[in-house]
Amino acid sequence: MPSIVPAHAVTTPASMRAGRGVGHDKASRFLRTTGAVWLGVALFGQLLLAAYVVGFYGRTALAGRFEEWGKVLPKAPSADEPFLAGVLVLHLAFAAVILVGGALQLLPPLRRHWPGFHRVVGRIYLAAAVILSVGGLVLVWVRGTVGDLSQHLGITVNALLILGCAAMAWRHARARRIDAHRRWALRLFLVVSGVWFFRVGLMAWIVANGGPAGFDPRTFTGPTLTTLSFAQSLLPLLVLEGFLRAQAGGTAAKVAMGAFLLAATGATLLGIGAATMIMWWPRL
Ligand code: HEM
Repeated sequence: MPSIVPAHAVTTPASMRAGRGVGHDKASRFLRTTGAVWLGVALFGQLLLAAYVVGFYGRTALAGRFEEWGKVLPKAPSADEPFLAGVLVLHLAFAAVILVGGALQLLPPLRRHWPGFHRVVGRIYLAAAVILSVGGLVLVWVRGTVGDLSQHLGITVNALLILGCAAMAWRHARARRIDAHRRWALRLFLVVSGVWFFRVGLMAWIVANGGPAGFDPRTFTGPTLTTLSFAQSLLPLLVLEGFLRAQAGGTAAKVAMGAFLLAATGATLLGIGAATMIMWWPRL
């Protein structure tokens, strides 16, 4: 019996049958690879921040030397403010949890082969996201922190975006709408990474400018810091939208996005190296 599938459909790639050609396949691979490379570098950089949180805050807490926190956090609550001190301890503990949890959630083999594990870590991740953003808001608006009002508004936008994206990722996962869940989980990961983007972005900026530029390091205020406070959440979200559109788009969009991600990987590496050498390593 003759096959009902035309011969060319068996021997040509799907993209050619769709009238797109081999260049489109290569562009798709390029975009996938550059996206994975950027993510790998970012997750590595976040594990370095987690190592710092455990190695500095965890180590000094276990030794009962909480006074050392004051050298890093100028507005750290004192022992006679037990509620705020508790919020800060919880904040730092869950910071380590969420940084490691993000890496676990985004590793494709874990997601594919251990869906039960993905669900358990997912619940912990969502709880950590809520605890960090609500606790962070308490620290900013009740206790007060470094920076000016514009920066406090910027980090508040970050906290609200975390809560919104967490709710959406949770809703779609419950309803088994996996594609929508994936998109909201990626947005959640990026806004949760906002404070990491802030640190890495600021250190890359300082190294690129050969010193503090556009802000006063003594008062920790200035246009650079105001911009970064909002950009830490909004810029990564914008880039993600570009990436998702490029994934569904044509060859030129994929190549342009892939090239952008390569440049972003370079800048991210610069920021991670600078943050590690200037902020994290010396305190360990
Ligand atoms: C969701 C992910 C978050 C992570 C991983 C995280 C991580 C951290 C870390 C590591 C510190 C210690 C500072 C350092 O040594 O660099 C810190 C402190 C702090 N965080 Fe967060 N944070 C997150 C979210 C937030 C949010 C959303 C807010 C505000 C709404 C916030 C507000 C604060 C404040 C006020 C401090 C204390 C700074 C001071 O003493 O002045 N954090 N956080």
